Amino acid sequence: MRGRPRIRGHLRTRAHDTAVPRLPAERLRHHPLRRRAVRYRLIETYRPSVRPRLDCPVHVLTGSEDPELSQERISERAGGWADLTTARTEVRTFPGDHFYLTPRRREVVATVLRRMDPSLTTGGHSGRARREPAAASPSALLEIPLIDYYSTSAEFYEMVATRHTASRGPPLRRVLEGVDTSYGPVLEIGGGTGRVTEVIASALPQAEIIVAEPSATMRAMLTSRVARNPDLRRRVTVVDGAAQDLPLPEKLSAVVIFGVAGHLTVPERVALWKRLAACLPDGAPIVVELMGVSSPRVIPPVMSLRETIGRQTYEWWIGGEPTEGDAMRFTTTWKVLSEGRTVREVTDSYVWHTFDVARLAAEAGMTSRRITEAGGQAIPEIGVLVK
Ligand SMILES: C[S@@+](CC[C@H](N)C(=O)[O-])C[C@H]1O[C@@H](n2cnc3c(N)ncnc32)[C@H](O)[C@@H]1O
Repeated sequence: MRGRPRIRGHLRTRAHDTAVPRLPAERLRHHPLRRRAVRYRLIETYRPSVRPRLDCPVHVLTGSEDPELSQERISERAGGWADLTTARTEVRTFPGDHFYLTPRRREVVATVLRRMDPSLTTGGHSGRARREPAAASPSALLEIPLIDYYSTSAEFYEMVATRHTASRGPPLRRVLEGVDTSYGPVLEIGGGTGRVTEVIASALPQAEIIVAEPSATMRAMLTSRVARNPDLRRRVTVVDGAAQDLPLPEKLSAVVIFGVAGHLTVPERVALWKRLAACLPDGAPIVVELMGVSSPRVIPPVMSLRETIGRQTYEWWIGGEPTEGDAMRFTTTWKVLSEGRTVREVTDSYVWHTFDVARLAAEAGMTSRRITEAGGQAIPEIGVLVK
């Protein structure tokens, strides 16, 4: 690291800084880059004193193309980190080089926070779990939503989705049936466990379908549903991704977004509609489930589902209250009962930004219609935005 050329070279590789100036020795000594080089020297020459090993897990995050930490080295006792602990070491590799953090900021912060707070990890547990970060949490400060908050109660979700899809499936099918799918794939955002995916696939038997789902637990059920059906397996691609930064294909024939739009703030929705509009042909639909809450109001807790599986009965309680602006906080509790006694309770809460179809149409600059009944029966409302 000694000598000007080596400092320059080092800084170039570290910071991708091809514009490191050619400076005389005197100016280089006081240049901020020089101070950075001194820091690097410190890092490289520091030898820690021998200490007892930690007894907590160590999670190592790294970039797949980092020239300083090859994949060979990282696979060897986690690049040396495994020697520092008697507990488990886990390596998570993100696409990118030494500076993978910048483009992957959202995923990295979500990964770190999930590791720090078990309530945000898979394997939901009894008691109260948070879905929404507290106002001053690191994710709130970075404006990074935690998107895997469905894992807490994912084990119960199929019960809700099965019942719900029985009523919203037929109208969705009717909206989709006329869609020309030769233009590009159909995109489903927040596919959950795949119940709606099945409806899309049966309404559009020729369509290629891309389903994005950010929650690992929900995605596991989705992939399992797709994998065991030969038709879905051939046509459906499951991807990990949240609406806010989902990479989109160049062309799409239609978009379905059920049970998701209120998880996005207005600016996030506006940005999403704009990106989707750029992929869709004129006349193509974005089908949105409206969820029946067009403005914040108090919804007292009510038991909205009760089912028995094996020896246990499951009750789903849900209530909500206004928070700020267009937002409501919903709280849901799953009670698991055995022989009439509650043996487990899983509670979580989430913020939902309320909307109606007119508002979505205004945000998107599209025309809209609302579907409220099918075959003479009232159904959970569906909005159709048309480009
Ligand atoms: C109420 S569930 C609906 C699942 C499915 N669409 C259905 O109707 O059965 C909401 C789903 O959206 C996902 N989700 C939450 N926030 C999301 C976001 N920002 N982008 C995409 N999906 C999201 C959740 O992980 C969850 O699986």
